[in-house]
Amino acid sequence: MTAGGAKRATAFAPASVGNVGVGFDILGFSLDALGDTVTASVSDAQGVSITSIGGVVADLPLDAARNTAGRAVQALLERAAPGFGVALQIDKGIPLGSGLGGSAASAVGAVVAANALLPSPFDKIDLLKFAMQGEAVASGALHVDNVAPSLFGGLVLTVGVDNPRVKQIPAPSGVRAVVVHPHLFLATREARSVLSRSVDMSDFVWQTANLAGFISACYTNDLDMLRECFEDVIIERQRQSLIPGFAEVRAAAMNGGALGCSISGAGPSIFAWVEEQRAPLVVAAMQAQFAARGLESEGWAVEIESAGARLIES
Ligand code: HSE
Repeated sequence: MTAGGAKRATAFAPASVGNVGVGFDILGFSLDALGDTVTASVSDAQGVSITSIGGVVADLPLDAARNTAGRAVQALLERAAPGFGVALQIDKGIPLGSGLGGSAASAVGAVVAANALLPSPFDKIDLLKFAMQGEAVASGALHVDNVAPSLFGGLVLTVGVDNPRVKQIPAPSGVRAVVVHPHLFLATREARSVLSRSVDMSDFVWQTANLAGFISACYTNDLDMLRECFEDVIIERQRQSLIPGFAEVRAAAMNGGALGCSISGAGPSIFAWVEEQRAPLVVAAMQAQFAARGLESEGWAVEIESAGARLIES
């Protein structure tokens, strides 16, 4: 990914939409419209220090072990033992508690930047494992559906936690992702705490069919199949009460011709997939529903396939 050995490097890591409705904790896609930028510098002090946090979020812990970027780079240094420490400057472009993979992007950006300082850089799978350690600090769980797309880019399925296997899945042609972020804060931990520990057997079968159908529809460009399978029958119904207006925003997207619409990650952002020509109308219809509840929002209509994290300076 890089020759390594730099004294200072800066990486950009995109936002991401976790779960994609049908793939709780294992499926996600990158959202290049916004992201976090992290600069890593070689430091004489051992370990990881966080020298600044700026951008759209500033009140994050400076203690490296409690910071997603800091913890991820600690995991990298524990393996690499390079004989120097790393100082991090974090510029947040993703709002906290937005459901857009902000903690994952900080962790991914940090390991990509820190990796460029090493004489022998790690490969992406190792970086994924380090970033997952960081993500766990924020969400309390080792889930991969934000870190993997932020690192690799595009629609990404990740199987396994200790030895993750990553598959970049082709997005159906002519389909855009619409993402709307209402200006609300929802902690991932809270949105995970409401989830039941058990699943009804018929829902399990239904969701399994939906995930299998969704993935096969992406490979075969079958939009009818995609529309049929684009439904989360387990998680969404348990979380939707955490998002004011969710049912109406979803209905607006579906009435506008969306192939499917669900919660982005843990929420409160909501995403839809929609054929290209309808995307601007669907964004506007979803935002109008939030506005009707007095909620400001931002909306994007973007390509599903986009680049993952990259060095922008080293
Ligand atoms: N898969 C995670 C969840 C994503 O839904 O809790 C958190 O951003």
